[in-house]
Order: sequence, then structure tokens, then C-alpha cells
Amino acid sequence: MAHCAIHPSILSADFVNLERELGRIRGADAVHVDVMDNHFVPNLTLGLPVVKRIAESTQLPIDAHLMIEDADHWAPRYAELGLASVTFHAEAARAPIKLARDLRSNGAKAGMALRPATSVLPYLDMLPELDLLLIMTVEPGFGGQSFLDLTLPKIRTAARAAADADLDLAIQVDGGISLETIERAAEAGATVFVAGSAVYGAESPEDAVAALRRTAGSAAGGTPRTSSE
Ligand code: DX5
Ligand code: ZN
Repeated sequence: MAHCAIHPSILSADFVNLERELGRIRGADAVHVDVMDNHFVPNLTLGLPVVKRIAESTQLPIDAHLMIEDADHWAPRYAELGLASVTFHAEAARAPIKLARDLRSNGAKAGMALRPATSVLPYLDMLPELDLLLIMTVEPGFGGQSFLDLTLPKIRTAARAAADADLDLAIQVDGGISLETIERAAEAGATVFVAGSAVYGAESPEDAVAALRRTAGSAAGGTPRTSSE
């Protein structure tokens, strides 16, 4: 059974009780923190000082997803906090290769995200610069949206390119991940799964994490299907 990582998104948690909410996902592989600036996406969440306190308040690795403009300037500031991974959006970066190198040199895994309508094809040559490729499976900005099946060919293309080049690249999916959709994403080649409402909307977030991991693990296993993007 392939190893699949589950990263609960605290966007669906109670923001007034973040420390308690972090304690409800102890079995997770990392905590996914959504940073939004009301410019790159039409929503506003939290910034550097709060992410710093979250990192100080949990043993879990922090997976920061930056939905913000001017990523070239801001993303390295997040890496300096000692986060496990920092993911910027390709659409918000002027020099993505330089930025990915900056993140790695600050000790963070370098992640790059693509909105649903952004093709992965122009970025295939730079995959060796990344540790994580985040394929958004909803339009970024809000939790609780429906999974977009039109992103599946892109997941397959990216997973195939990474396998062909023998890269150690995590393929992350984010948006609309549930017990129902996680199988399709895993079969297509995703290896890291962000889930907000499916985890924090459950009676037991811990049990939800375990169930998602089991379902993804049994759906993965096979090799990614032929690319069709
Ligand atoms: C949306 C965020 C997601 C969000 C996912 O822009 O990037 O991380 O929390 O929430 P669900 O799992 O409810 O779609
Ligand atoms: Zn996210």
C-alpha cells in the first residue's frame, strides 16, 4: 500500500481556538496553513505573526500555502520561520526558479502551486527545483467547494513527468478532498492530500484523517495513468 500523507487545512478550524484545534489532528502528517491576502484571492486569513505562533504551538510540520501577491518577497520570510514547506503560486511569482532556490536555502521544502486553469506544461522543466507541486483542485480562496475533475489529467501529467525524471517530488492536491474524491486523486498520482471540511467537519478529525489515509493508500499503489493533458 503506497504511503499517502494527509495534511488537514486549519481554514476549516475554529480560528479562536487554534491551539485546541491543532490538538485534534495529532495523527496528521502535517498541518496545512492557508495564507490569503485578499488580492491574489478574494479572501483574507492570517499572516506571518500568526503562522509563527502556530509553528511554535504544535509538533506537527507546517505546510504553508501562500495565496498572496508578491510571492518573491514574502515566501522566503515564511521559510525563515523554520516551516517544513512553503508553497507559492506560480501565477504570483516573477522568478519562480530563483524563489524555489531561496526557499530551499532557507531550509524549507520548496512548493509551487497551480490554479485549476494553469497548465503544468510550461513548468515541467523546473520540476527538479521543487520538492512539492500543489495542483489546486478548486479555485483557491475558500474551503468547502466541490472537487474539479478537470484537474485529473494535470495530476497524471505531473506524476508521470516526475516518475520519468526519477524526481523526489510530492504531488499535493487541495480542494474538495473527501472520502469520495480522494480515490480519484490518488489513482491519478497525487501523494499528499489537503483536506479542510472533510477533517474539521467530522465528529472526530483524528478518525477522518485515518480514514482518508486508508482510502488514498488503497487507491494508489498502481502507476500513474498515461498523460492526456
Ligand atoms: C482553499 C484552500 C484549501 C481549503 C480546502 O483555497 O487552499 O486548503 O482549506 O478546504 P476543503 O478541503 O474544504 O475544500
Ligand atoms: Zn490550501
